[in-house]
Amino acid sequence: MTLETLLYEKMDNIGVLKINRPKALNAINAQVIEELDQVIDVIDSDRSLRVLIITGSGEKAFVAGGDIVDMSTMPASEAHKFAKRGQDVLRRLEIVKIPVIAAVNGYALGGGTELACACDFIYASEKAKFGQPEVVLGLMPGFGGTQRLARFVGLAMARELIYTGEQIDAKRAFELGLVNKICAPDKLMEEVLKTAKIIASRAPLAVAGCKEALNDGFDVGLDKGLAFECDLFGDLFDTEDMREGTKAFIEKRPANFTGE
Ligand code: CAA
Repeated sequence: MTLETLLYEKMDNIGVLKINRPKALNAINAQVIEELDQVIDVIDSDRSLRVLIITGSGEKAFVAGGDIVDMSTMPASEAHKFAKRGQDVLRRLEIVKIPVIAAVNGYALGGGTELACACDFIYASEKAKFGQPEVVLGLMPGFGGTQRLARFVGLAMARELIYTGEQIDAKRAFELGLVNKICAPDKLMEEVLKTAKIIASRAPLAVAGCKEALNDGFDVGLDKGLAFECDLFGDLFDTEDMREGTKAFIEKRPANFTGE
């Protein structure tokens, strides 16, 4: 895998992916989307991976949006394809089997907030700024902002943020439920890794089942969601990890999970 706009490394069983176009404040262009798709292939096939962290290169930005320079000359036909491809790849990211944590280290505007909202949850630096400023540019969100932001902050607040294009700081994002935790800038990765390591120590198939039930159940209504949870719950009883986890509890020792 050759990556030019992303950096991907593994720290034990945790993957760290950086959007790496710092001169353009990590703006998402077509190449970023294609490379993200390639990294998701790698993540999907890496059975040792337990958690993915996504952050931005440099001091200033997580992702400052879709690439405005590229979009400024895009014909409508190409813009449709750009949005569709971006949406498809972010959707793939959203449903990878392992939890994905966004470590928002700076500006997360437009496509940046959209990328963060395609992750399972968000930790932010005190310096982070969020927003969907597309209407300022004569645009609208195209990578899922009109659909996912409301799932974090509620429909009325998403409407206000999207219609005004206003930016909000990390404190406001935390108050609104967009961000789970605010960290000092130099402690952000440490805090995210701490949480990632806790998740990584849990039974991987059980965590994957929780993710699937949380994601898919949200869309189908309570009764179907409960039935879905019930199926996934039962399936876990065929796993070694479930036997090991319950046995370890009874034997009063830490569990040794293998992901089997
Ligand atoms: N696309 C392309 N380049 C971008 C960019 C973007 N979204 N955001 C910043 N850059 C570039 C700037 O053009 C500048 O490049 P040069 O040095 O070559 O001039 C460089 O990054 C640094 O940016 P600034 O000089 O503007 O830095 P600043 O500190 O003064 O401001 C900022 C930072 C407030 C984030 C400002 O850059 C900004 O407002 N960026 C645009 C944010 C935005 O509107 N995002 C939404 C895009 S539309 C979208 O995302 C649609 C979608 O849903 C897919």
